[in-house]
Amino acid sequence: MSDRDFDLTDAYAVETPDDNRDLYARWAATYESTFVADNGYVYHLGVVGSFVDTASDGDDPVLDVGCGTGLMGVALRTTGPWTVDGLDLSAEMLGEARIKVAGEGDPVYRHLHEGDLTATLDIPSGAYGAVVSSGTFTHGHVGPTAFDELYRITRPGGLFAIGINPDHFTNLGFADRFVDDVAAGRITEPVIQRVNTYEAGDHAGQLSPVAVFRTL
Ligand SMILES: C[S@@+](CC[C@H](N)C(=O)[O-])C[C@H]1O[C@@H](n2cnc3c(N)ncnc32)[C@H](O)[C@@H]1O
Repeated sequence: MSDRDFDLTDAYAVETPDDNRDLYARWAATYESTFVADNGYVYHLGVVGSFVDTASDGDDPVLDVGCGTGLMGVALRTTGPWTVDGLDLSAEMLGEARIKVAGEGDPVYRHLHEGDLTATLDIPSGAYGAVVSSGTFTHGHVGPTAFDELYRITRPGGLFAIGINPDHFTNLGFADRFVDDVAAGRITEPVIQRVNTYEAGDHAGQLSPVAVFRTL
């Protein structure tokens, strides 16, 4: 398979963390020049928009989960002096994020964690003031159980802006999970915003939900 052959079909075919590691190891170097460019991928920009609409200065530091090559971090750093960390399963995707620089020439990401969102994270409780994500809560990637760990590593009042695949939001239990978490007093009632995901290609015009809420 050539690098140019990777597309959404490959991304949606993965089932396990090892499948993810394998796919993104081969895709990392060309993810932006092929998939992002060919499809006019703008999901990260929508999530950043949802985040900054609600965020205040105290919502720092910010953890970008499934940060991939760092598109969200780059966009976030243009909106304010956020301290942004990233987490991803793929060492190769993190390698691309590591070389991203902000306007002043400093690295976009303060820390990059290699970690699996389907397992326990090697991050202290209450470490983050906010969590953001685009393109990670999707086919074969990460399901609703990841929120147990994400709530743990976020301090009370922490802000979440999480993009979730539109088909999976209801079908894979994200909506029910948030209902349960509100009832249990773990989070505020989520505001579900719909943001543009792609501006070109077969999925142009697709809107994806972004769940915006705070931990209690
Ligand atoms: C479609 S890419 C999106 C990357 C980036 N957020 C963006 O918007 O361009 C999905 C990312 O999720 C990561 N990922 C998939 N499963 C994961 C897991 N279990 N834990 C952490 N990251 C995971 C992949 O390595 C990949 O970098």
